Amino acid sequence: MHAITAILALAAGSVIAAPVDTVAERATATELNTAAKAAGKVYFGTAVDNGDLGNSQYTSEEKNTADFGQITPANSMKWDAIEASRGKFTYTQGDVIANLAKTNGQKLRCHNLVWHNQLPSWVSSGNFDNATLISIMKNHITNEVTHYKGQCYAWDVVNEAINDDGSGTLRSDPFHNTIGPAYLPIAFATAHAADPSAKLYYNDYNIETLGVKSTAAQNIVKMIKAYGAPIDGVGLQSHFVSGSTPTTAQQVANMNAFTALGVDVAITELDIRVKTPETSAELTQQATDYSSTIKACKQVSRCVGVTLWDWNDKNSWVPGTFPGYGAATPWDTNFQKKTAVYNAIISAWQS
Ligand SMILES: *[C@@H]1O[C@H](CO)[C@@H](O)[C@H](O)[C@H]1NC(C)=O
Repeated sequence: MHAITAILALAAGSVIAAPVDTVAERATATELNTAAKAAGKVYFGTAVDNGDLGNSQYTSEEKNTADFGQITPANSMKWDAIEASRGKFTYTQGDVIANLAKTNGQKLRCHNLVWHNQLPSWVSSGNFDNATLISIMKNHITNEVTHYKGQCYAWDVVNEAINDDGSGTLRSDPFHNTIGPAYLPIAFATAHAADPSAKLYYNDYNIETLGVKSTAAQNIVKMIKAYGAPIDGVGLQSHFVSGSTPTTAQQVANMNAFTALGVDVAITELDIRVKTPETSAELTQQATDYSSTIKACKQVSRCVGVTLWDWNDKNSWVPGTFPGYGAATPWDTNFQKKTAVYNAIISAWQS
């Protein structure tokens, strides 16, 4: 802002009453993070993967805090990246993302500590007894959370513990098979001891509407609390398909079921994939679908923020994971904003 403009703005501020300032603030909140914050949220953010940082078009937008006030490492804080062999901790790549957040003044959601996937075979095939696996899990959590102590707004402590087969049961994985459901409260209590100020989340997919899997996630929150361990939030990953994204009302009802248990919610991995090659009608639908989810978070005061997974179609995991689908993010493969989607998100925050 030029000095003269600042003086004029000050002069205007001294004459015009507070409600008008609020209107002015809303009118200037024309980016994803500024609009989310004007709507009372803590952040709007994006996943960031280390392999994408060599591209200057990528990095110049990634550090644009008007759009992204928060980042999540897509891969570099997972178990296989941090402790590929037993007791040997490697933080180089995780630190790159943590330092980006620090340099740019972005909040960091740290991701993740205990997950059945991207788990080194020394853990998954180790055939450890209960006491040994508990000590391995505690050592992993304590070492990593301590390393990033004070830097993580939130930790995804346990990721995707529930089967996705409609049963609502806990997944058959090394932790559940050996330790039993107690691995969840043990993981949360251990993370809390290492960094008492980080918010501790359970994170999963297909728990964004009421139903068997969401109920199972609610039961995880209750179980962790029943063991006397702390849990602060539930991450709703929200990997949606355009045209079958849940309505705002469905998402709000689901968020309320979690917040009624005394925890925050966050949309942690939002993307909305479309069949490729995408038509303009599909992209219009996609803008509506983004709007539905943002409106849900807007309406629930304990929905603290939204994270995209990723912010652009070039770096999105979708085409590689869901053949025949893509175009899932608000920026295209040339890092150009999709105006309809981008503006739908802003309007939803202002609705
Ligand atoms: C493993 O040990 C923990 C801690 O003592 C206990 O809570 C849990 O029930 C045990 N699991 C099994 C399967 O025995």
